[in-house]
Amino acid sequence: MITGDGYGRYNIWEHSATVKALYARRCRLESEEMTCHAQAAELLMAHVREGETLLDAGCGSGYFFHSLRARAIDLDYLGVDAAPSLVGIGQEVLPAHGLRADRLRVMRIEDLNGSVDHAVCINVLSNIDNYHRPLERLLNVARKSVIMRESCAEEASYAYVKDRFLDPGVDLKVHVNTYALGELTEFIRSYGYDVEVVRDRRAGDGPELVIDYPHYWKFLVCLKNRG
Ligand SMILES: C[S@@+](CC[C@H](N)C(=O)[O-])C[C@H]1O[C@@H](n2cnc3c(N)ncnc32)[C@H](O)[C@@H]1O
Repeated sequence: MITGDGYGRYNIWEHSATVKALYARRCRLESEEMTCHAQAAELLMAHVREGETLLDAGCGSGYFFHSLRARAIDLDYLGVDAAPSLVGIGQEVLPAHGLRADRLRVMRIEDLNGSVDHAVCINVLSNIDNYHRPLERLLNVARKSVIMRESCAEEASYAYVKDRFLDPGVDLKVHVNTYALGELTEFIRSYGYDVEVVRDRRAGDGPELVIDYPHYWKFLVCLKNRG
């Protein structure tokens, strides 16, 4: 017998009670703001106007909404994420903080269509098989800017490794990819964007270990050019 539920079965994001508890705390404002979310919000501020739409792609439980509110960045926020349980956490908690539950949706980045003014994608593409398909969708749906934070270095490296931080008894692998900065920025430019690479405030120039594997975080600020 074959069933079609393999995506959830193999999705590490659906198999960590620790992550779910952390994301719930972030939604309830019981956890410090992530440094990278603070930096993303500051980078975004320079390019947005009141009332514009913002897509948070791979939003987890949508707690980046708090980073906008804390800085009075008045955007129409929509968060999408492929993990139903993480989206559910945000839908339960964030309405009390001013975000309607329907502003968080279960959706894969690859399936995005339509348009928004701005998009952010923070800590997502480095842990999936590759960036081309999801990033193409993001660059096509955004009218003005895409701000992303991913692991990038001069040389690319691709790994598929066991995640030892999941729930007991769960044996799953996850991609830990570092993308070649030159190739990635060229790809983004080919969709009509100018790209600025910005040093990551948290990791600086060094790698940061996430699930015991090095990530070389950089922000890419991608602005649609007029040409
Ligand atoms: C490391 S978490 C980052 C969450 C949040 N952006 C943050 O910065 O805390 C990666 C998130 O990407 C989501 N994700 C992974 N692949 C995805 C895809 N193809 N489409 C949408 N979301 C995806 C996961 O479900 C997870 O919530």
